[in-house]
Amino acid sequence: MKTLTKFIMPLVLSLLAAADAGAQELIANVYGRQTQSLNGKWDAIVDLYDQGRKNKIYLDRKPEGKTDFYEYSFDNGLRLDVPSDWNCQTPELKYYEGTVWYARRFDAPQQAGQRQFLHFGAVSYRCRVYLNGEEIGAHEGGFTPFQIEVTGRLKPEGNFLAVEANNTRTPDAIPAMAFDWWNYGGITRDVMLISVPDTFIEDYFIRLDKDSADRITADVKLSGAAAGTSVGIEIPELNVRETAVTDDKGTASVSFRVKKLERWSPANPKRYRVIVSSDRDRVEERIGFRNIRVEGEDICLNGTPLFLKSVSFHEEIPQRMGRAFSESDAVMLLSEARALGCNMIRLAHYPQNEYIVRLAEQMGFLLWEEIPIWQGIDFANGQTREKAGRMIREMVTRDKNRCALAFWGVANETQPSEARNAFLRHLIGCCREIDDTRLIVAAFDLVRFDRQRQLFVMNDPFIEELDVVAVNKYMGWYHPWPLTPDKAVWDVARGKPLIISEFGGEALYGQHGPADVASSWSEEYQEALYRDNLRMFENIPNLRGVSPWILFDFRSPFRFHPTNQEGWNRKGLVSDQGYRKKAWYLMKAYYDKH
Ligand code: GCU
Repeated sequence: MKTLTKFIMPLVLSLLAAADAGAQELIANVYGRQTQSLNGKWDAIVDLYDQGRKNKIYLDRKPEGKTDFYEYSFDNGLRLDVPSDWNCQTPELKYYEGTVWYARRFDAPQQAGQRQFLHFGAVSYRCRVYLNGEEIGAHEGGFTPFQIEVTGRLKPEGNFLAVEANNTRTPDAIPAMAFDWWNYGGITRDVMLISVPDTFIEDYFIRLDKDSADRITADVKLSGAAAGTSVGIEIPELNVRETAVTDDKGTASVSFRVKKLERWSPANPKRYRVIVSSDRDRVEERIGFRNIRVEGEDICLNGTPLFLKSVSFHEEIPQRMGRAFSESDAVMLLSEARALGCNMIRLAHYPQNEYIVRLAEQMGFLLWEEIPIWQGIDFANGQTREKAGRMIREMVTRDKNRCALAFWGVANETQPSEARNAFLRHLIGCCREIDDTRLIVAAFDLVRFDRQRQLFVMNDPFIEELDVVAVNKYMGWYHPWPLTPDKAVWDVARGKPLIISEFGGEALYGQHGPADVASSWSEEYQEALYRDNLRMFENIPNLRGVSPWILFDFRSPFRFHPTNQEGWNRKGLVSDQGYRKKAWYLMKAYYDKH
C-alpha cells in the first residue's frame, strides 16, 4: 500500500499542479503591476533523453557526505539568456528539439497582505515549473502567457526556480508536425514575479460598445473580494468617474456615455489614460476606443469603410536568427511596416509578444491575431480542440483591451471537413465568450481557376460563419497564370469583405535575372510577380485589403535550396539582412496610392 501511495500521490499532485496552472485566470495588464523581473542569464541543462524529471534535478541537490554524488549541476555550466529562444544562442542548439532545463535563484522580500504570481510571457512549446523543489504548474502552448500563484511558497532569499521546457513537435499539438517557420524552443518572453494586494483587480475589459460611438462598457473582476465591493473607473480626459459594485463572483459592470470621444484609428491612434481602482488595488493603462464592423462587403472603422494596407511578419529578428522578444525588437519590425505604408499587420501565425501588440496600437496599426491552426491539425481529437480553445481564450484575454486588434483569426489554410468545422466553431465560440466586439476571420488557400467559367472561385460553405473571408493565393509562384492578370476575375465570397491575406514569391536579395523565370530567384521576378498580382486585385469586387507575404525573409526548415534559400523562406520584401528588394518599392507605391 505504502509503495502505491508513494507512486500515486506525486502523480496526482503533479496532475493537479498542471491543471492548476492552466486554470489560473490571467491577471490583466502585467506591465502595469508591481513586478520584479526575472529576465537575464539562467543556468541550463540540455536533457535530450528526458532524464531530469526522473532524477529530480529540480531539487538542485549538492553532494554532502563522502559517498554522495550527482551527475548534474546547474552551477558553472551552460547559461542561456531569458527571454530568448535557445536555438540562436549556441550552434549546438540551432536545430535542437527536446527538453532544456532552465534554473535560477532569486530573492523575494516578503510583503504582508500581498499575493505573488510567477508570470511567463511564453514558453515554447510546453513546460513544467518547479519552485524550491516542488512542481507548481505546467503549460502547453508556445505563444500565450500563463501565471502561477506562489503566495506562501517563497523564501525571502535564495528561491530556486526551475523550468523544464520542451519543444518537441507532436501530432496533437498546435501547431502540429510540420509548419513553415523555425521551431524555436525555450523561455521566449519576459518572466516576472507579480505582487498584488490580497484583494486585487484581476481582470477588466473596457471598450466602446460595438454599435455605439459614445457608449463605453467596463467589466471588472476582483479576486478575493466579497460581493458588494466598490470598483472605480476613471478616464480623466473625458471627465469620467464611474463606480460599480461587485456581485458574488467578484465581477462589477458599468456602462456610460462620453462626450467628445476621439475614436482611435491608424490616422489618429488616440488612447486615453484609464484608471481602475478598488478599496485595495489600483491599476492604469492607456486604452483606445473605436468601432469596427462589417457592413455588406465593407469593413468599417468608426463608421467609415476602409482599405486594409497590411503586411505579415513572424515574431523573429532575422539579423539575429532568433525570436523577437523586446521593445526594441518591436520598434524594428513595426518601423519597417510603417515605412512600407501599412495601416495593418497580420501577426503570423500565432499571438506575438505584448511589446509588438502595444506598440502597434500606439503607432496606429490595426491587428489580426491568430493561434497557429496551421494547415494539418488533429481536428478530430477532442483534447486538441480543448487545447486550442484554451489557447485562443488566453490570446483574447490578454489582448481584449487593445483596440488595435480588429480581427481574431481562427485558421490558416485548413481543408473542409465536418471535424474542422466543429473545431473552428468551438474556437469562434471561445472568442465570442470573452469578446463580441471584434471580427472573426480565417485564411483559406482554396481559391481555384474555373476554366469553364473563366473565373477564380472558391467552395467552402464554412465561410458563411465568418465575418470576413481571407485568401492566401500565390499566383505566379505556386500557381502559374492561367490567363493574363488583367483578365483574372474573381467571384469569391461575394456579400462579404475579402482580404488577400497572403500573396508573393521568393527572391534572394541582390540576385538579378530574367523577370519571367521563377527559378532565377531574382528580384526582377519577384517585382514582376507583385506587379501582376496588384493588377489582378483590381478584378476582385469585394476586395477590402491586401497583405503581402511577407515583410522579412524568415527561417524555415522547409526551405532546402542550397544557394537561393539555405533554410530561409525568401518571400520577404526585405532580406534577412534588412535590405529592401525591388518589390518593396512597388508595394510602397501601391500603398501610397491607396
Ligand atoms: C502558406 C502559409 C505560410 C507559408 C507560405 C509560403 O500560405 O500560410 O505560413 O510561409 O504559404 O509557402 O511561403
